[in-house]
Amino acid sequence: MDYQNIIYSVSDGIGTITINRPKALNALNLATVTELKDVVEKIAVDPAVQVVVITGSGEKSFVAGADIVEMSTKNPTEGRAWGMVGQNVFTEIENLPQPVIAAINGFALGGGCELSCACDIRYASENAKFGQPEVGLGITPGFGGTQRLTRVVGRGYAKELIYTGGMIDAQEALRIGLVNKVVPQSELMDAVMKLAKTITKKAPVAVQLSKAAINRGINCDVVTGIAYEAEVFGLCFSTADQKEGMSAFVEKRKPAFTGK
Ligand code: CAA
Repeated sequence: MDYQNIIYSVSDGIGTITINRPKALNALNLATVTELKDVVEKIAVDPAVQVVVITGSGEKSFVAGADIVEMSTKNPTEGRAWGMVGQNVFTEIENLPQPVIAAINGFALGGGCELSCACDIRYASENAKFGQPEVGLGITPGFGGTQRLTRVVGRGYAKELIYTGGMIDAQEALRIGLVNKVVPQSELMDAVMKLAKTITKKAPVAVQLSKAAINRGINCDVVTGIAYEAEVFGLCFSTADQKEGMSAFVEKRKPAFTGK
């Protein structure tokens, strides 16, 4: 598929997706979400990609939500279907085997905030603004916001953001745990790439199984989650990278992981 609304590149094990509709502040229309789905499904089976970064084009916006113009004429059946299209892609992002980092370079509103919450780790630039403005448009958050935002920041902050439709700045997002780090805009991609590179140096299977265990545990009871952790922990001992990682420690050298 040729991409018109996103840019995708891979370098040194890091796949970077840039949502690229700067004139509409990178709002998500059907064409963009379709391209996002295509690239995410390719990444899921690409062993060359160890970490994924998602960002927005330009200096003003990460993603300013679902495309309001495209949504404005939908009937209930179409609205439900559109919500499920976005939900499905964001769930695919959440379930990617590789860690996904959101580099939030400006507005992360509605579907943009929801996209960031489907990522594993969020770094923001100082000018970033977050919010779920949907109730001001007569709709609820529809790409997972009522569920994932609540799990990220807790129900009190999620409800305040969703009921008021208000925006918060990057420092407030940091305070409530919506983002891990805030940096000047000119340093955002360097900070995100430094984080991504650190992860690519670790044993890839162990990183992916850690993600799988954390994600599964969030959605089940602790007894089931702990049992799953024992299974993935045991599985690690079947990898060459476990032998390499522990031998390297004993031999006081840096490990050379192969992802096997
Ligand atoms: N959909 C479609 N177009 C959008 C858009 C969106 N979500 N957000 C911005 N744009 C467009 C504007 O219409 C404008 O286009 P024109 O130049 O053709 O007029 C262009 O982007 C620039 O935007 P503004 O002129 O409005 O820029 P600003 O700096 O004055 O304001 C803003 C920035 C506060 C982000 C404002 O654009 C805004 O409020 N955008 C909408 C944010 C929003 O409500 N998002 C939630 C959408 S609903 C949703 O996401 C549902 C869901 O859960 C899936």
